[in-house]
This record gives sequence, C-alpha cells and structure tokens, in this order.
Amino acid sequence: MSEPVMPPTPDSVPLLGHTRAFSRDPFGALERWADHGNIVQLEFPGETLYLVSDPALIETILHDVENQFTIAEQQRQTFADVEDHAVTITVGNRWRRLRTALHPAFTRNTIDQYADGMVEQTIIRIDTWDDGEEIDLHREMRLLTLHILAETLLGVEIGGDEDVVLDATDALVDRADPRRFGQLLPDWIPTPTDRRFQREVATLDSYVDRCLSVRREGPRGDDACSVLLDAYDRDELTMEEVRHNLVALLLAGSDTSALGLTYCWYLLSDHPDVYSALIAEYDEHVESGRPTVESREHLSGLRNVVAEALRLYPPTWNTMRQTTQPVTLGGYRLPEGAELMLPQWVLHRDNRFWESPTEFRPSRWEGERDRPEYAYFPFSGGPRHCIGMHFARLELHLALATMVGRVTLDVSVEKPLSFAPTLSLRPEVEISAVVQHR
Ligand code: HEM
Repeated sequence: MSEPVMPPTPDSVPLLGHTRAFSRDPFGALERWADHGNIVQLEFPGETLYLVSDPALIETILHDVENQFTIAEQQRQTFADVEDHAVTITVGNRWRRLRTALHPAFTRNTIDQYADGMVEQTIIRIDTWDDGEEIDLHREMRLLTLHILAETLLGVEIGGDEDVVLDATDALVDRADPRRFGQLLPDWIPTPTDRRFQREVATLDSYVDRCLSVRREGPRGDDACSVLLDAYDRDELTMEEVRHNLVALLLAGSDTSALGLTYCWYLLSDHPDVYSALIAEYDEHVESGRPTVESREHLSGLRNVVAEALRLYPPTWNTMRQTTQPVTLGGYRLPEGAELMLPQWVLHRDNRFWESPTEFRPSRWEGERDRPEYAYFPFSGGPRHCIGMHFARLELHLALATMVGRVTLDVSVEKPLSFAPTLSLRPEVEISAVVQHR
C-alpha cells in the first residue's frame, strides 16, 4: 500500500514555522504560499493549518455539512461565551433548528421591505455631516450600517447605544488577531485583551436584554427579533438562544457591511472616471432622489463597483473549516481535526481566474463570466453561507447610491493600505474623507 501523501510545506524557520513571515506581511505571505499547491501545510507554534486555494476543493468543503468537514474549533473559541447558543457557532441539529428559526427574517421578500429604511437611515447619517467637514470614514460607515441593521432587520432602537456594539466588536476583533501575544498563552491566563473583551460583552449582553424586554411587550412583525421571539413563544427556542442570536447578528452584520462601503469609497476616490460614471448613472435613473429596489436594477455600474470592491477587499477575508475524520482531499491525506483555511483574499486575487487581479476594474463584471464559482465567494457558500447576504447586498447598493446622489467624498489615506489579519479585513490606517453636499 502506498504511503499517505502530505501536502507540501513552503520554506519555514525552526520552532516558529511560518509565524514570522505571516506577522510581517500576512496577505502577501498567503498569496506566495498558495503558489506551492492547491493545499499547503503551514506551521505555527502549537498549530498546523492547511491553506486550500483550489475553487473545486473549496466547493467540496463548503457544501459538505458535518460529514467530513465542520466549522473550526478556532471559530468556536473566538465566539465562546458570546454566541454559544447562536447560529454562528452551533453545529448539527441545533444549528439547523436555529438557522430554520431565523430564515423567515432573511427571505428576499422580507429584506426588500427594508429598502426605504436603508435609504432613510443613510440620509439621516449624511445630514449629520457638514460641508467641508473631515469625517472618519470607517467609523461613519460603521455607525451607518449599525443603524440600518438595528432599525430595519432587528427592529431595535440603537440611538445613544452605538458604542456598546462598536466597542464589543473592537474587543472581539482584537482578541481574534492571531499576531496578539496572548494567543500563545493557555486559556486560563487572562490577558488585558481578554478582560476587556469580557467587560464589553457583558455590556452588550445587558443592552440586548433591555431591547428584548421592550420587544416582548410590543407589537411583532417579520424582523429578526420578532421571528426569534415568536419561535420562543412556540417553545422552539430558549431565551438564551434568542439573546445569543441577536448578539450574533449585531456582531456579524454591521462591521462587515461597513468595511464594504469604506472600500467602495476608497476605490472610487482613486478612480475618478468610475466615480463620475456612477454619478451620471444615478442622475439618469434615480428620479426621486431616493434609490429603490426597482431603480437598483438600472444601476449596473454601481452594482459592479460593489462586486469589485468585495473581490479586492473581501470584508471576511478567510473562512475556516475543520475535518471531522481523516480525509483524502485533492490527493492529500489530512488527519482528523485538521484546520483548513479557505482564504477569499487569495482566491479573489488569483491570476488563474482574474486578469490583472490587483486592478480595480468594475467592467470585468459585465457580460458572461467563465470562471469557477468559488473563485469569488465573499459570502462563503453551501448551507452555512452568510444568512445576511441579500440584506448586505441591498444595503451596500442602496446606501452607496444614496451617498453618491447626495454627497461627494474626497478620501485621503496613507498608501499602500495595510490590514489586520483578524476576523474582518480592517484597515490598519485611518481613512478619512472630506464631505461636500451635491
Ligand atoms: C458585506 C457584508 C457581509 C459579508 C462579506 C459577510 C460574510 C460572511 C461570511 C464569509 C460568512 C461565513 C460563512 C461560513 O462559515 O461559511 C458569514 C456568516 C454569517 N453572516 Fe455574514 N457577511 C456580511 C453581512 C452580514 C449581515 C448583514 C448579517 C446579518 C444581518 C450577517 C450574518 C451572518 C451570520 C448569522 C452568519 C453565520 C451563518 C451560519 O453559520 O449559518 N452577515 N458572513
């Protein structure tokens, strides 16, 4: 019988393995390592990771639910104590029950009803900006997407409590940064980052509790909070599951979309020709000054900008999975419990599938496309794909269109952009913009 074949390992150094190269230039290192093969083995202190960069293998992994692959232990640890009872980190029948309970709040018809609310919240945010004012673009986009999320999909009042969610998100993102020193310590030694995280999460939990006590007494609709409370009333969910799912939606659904908008603006500002074309497209198709689900159909240039921004700067730059048993994948033998990186960043910039991959070219989204499905997967794929995908797409389209129609933003940032390799693709530098109302 032939020996099992192990994936290739790019050059590394004794003891630290691939840590130093990753810490210096995480995204460049991943791109270079992926050149060694469709699956490569990476060594970090106490941890082996397998980098998968073949779209067909990624499809196989994402479409298999808990037969050979499941969500990664690393992901469960990151969200432990915060989302233990939420759709994001549960598995098996429990995950299926939670995903089914949430589903009615995420159908295309339900989401389309939020279009006016998304535009309204964007106008409210724009109206807080003065002519000539310099705004912190990422923070403003976070406030915008948080208001949109809370006041449409979740049906909760967030005004005055925004920092509760932003601070908890920051604490989570910092704790998940693999370059953090505390990552190497055993879990029973709490670091200042861990303590800050516990504090922020406790504050977020009590905020969500307050929201729930208000919503339990009030009228219900088809927003996510109502759908969860209805399922609780039918004894299909526990109150802990309701609470943890709301926390999960607040954490999963605002920072990601905010990064999408931030990078759209960053790219538009660098490509004035594309920006001018978007303004012309808006002026031609959005008569009332308020984009709608219908007018979005005519804004193909804007939709292409969003698709291209999510390709170049995918807010979730990596998706993790883990094997449930020894598996043969792409001709290699992987042990049980092997942690697999499926990096959107690498696939979205792979020159096997993209011409001039690092260039911002919204026109590449016009017409027929001949590339494997999983060369582009900003919302992941398979049964566990992002439940908020329709919501996020509509939000990015309508919020960006509303802003393009009402203001010009002149973005300034130190280049080249650098990012923290944590949960989401956050810029490590401040991105600011000077506002001019149109
Ligand atoms: C541009 C914005 C967004 C991006 C790029 C994004 C991306 C992703 C990705 C890559 C996953 C991982 C799926 C997997 O493990 O295979 C995910 C999961 C998830 N997302 Fe999003 N997301 C976005 C917005 C949202 C919004 C607006 C919401 C909710 C309102 C949301 C809620 C969730 C939830 C609950 C999951 C876990 C689903 C499950 O495990 O069943 N996301 N998202």
